[in-house]
Amino acid sequence: MDRSTNAAEIQEHSDTGAQKNRVVTEEEWLQKWETHNIGFHKEQGHPLLQKYLDVLLSGRSGLRIFFPLCGKAVDMKWLADMGHRIVGVEVSEQALKEFFEEHSLPYSEEPVPEIPGAKKLQSISGNISLYCCSIYDLSSYASLMINLMEKNSSYLLVTVSYDPNKHKGPPFYVPESEIKSLFGSHCEIKCLEKVDDFSERHRQWGLDYFLEVLYLLKLVS
Ligand SMILES: C[S@@+](CC[C@H](N)C(=O)[O-])C[C@H]1O[C@@H](n2cnc3c(N)ncnc32)[C@H](O)[C@@H]1O
Repeated sequence: MDRSTNAAEIQEHSDTGAQKNRVVTEEEWLQKWETHNIGFHKEQGHPLLQKYLDVLLSGRSGLRIFFPLCGKAVDMKWLADMGHRIVGVEVSEQALKEFFEEHSLPYSEEPVPEIPGAKKLQSISGNISLYCCSIYDLSSYASLMINLMEKNSSYLLVTVSYDPNKHKGPPFYVPESEIKSLFGSHCEIKCLEKVDDFSERHRQWGLDYFLEVLYLLKLVS
């Protein structure tokens, strides 16, 4: 494929069969953190979040912003510095500790009585609370997100798109049809942008394109 192809013109793969039943287990994620195999971490924050922050905030200040699968996303510090409160969930305690340490933020640790084995790591200033547990300990992912959203809340969701017959993942290809079936009955879904994120790493996986697809979800019922 011509690399200059407009990202928006690339067709969706209607069939994700090649990746059916593929999961990255919690142990595999923990191992990625232990070995620092964290190519997914963006040290400068996520450019799409920066670009679409105004769309997400819609002029509101002092929000409580939820980061599911937060890792050590630097965006959390960025948004906290703007005056928002941050809640994150991440299975790797190492990732969370690295977050606080890399930003020189003192923090406390306490168990979460409702979730056996879970811990809450909270900045001493109190505005960043990161839960160390599986998101599935809370509920299934999409229904959890829908339950957490209040009317008029906005959810920026990034998926990746590539030919799933050429790479088995992770990250896994999520077609728009899946976003619609998970969220469509509760949310208005708008695709904001498809961005070419192709790099050498993706070429080595055997791919010839790799997109990030950004959606804005708004609760309607
Ligand atoms: C693609 S990474 C996102 C990383 C983050 N954006 C960053 O910059 O560090 C996905 C993260 O989700 C975490 N994770 C995977 N499965 C999880 C689960 N079931 N519950 C909570 N966290 C999970 C992984 O450990 C990993 O840090």
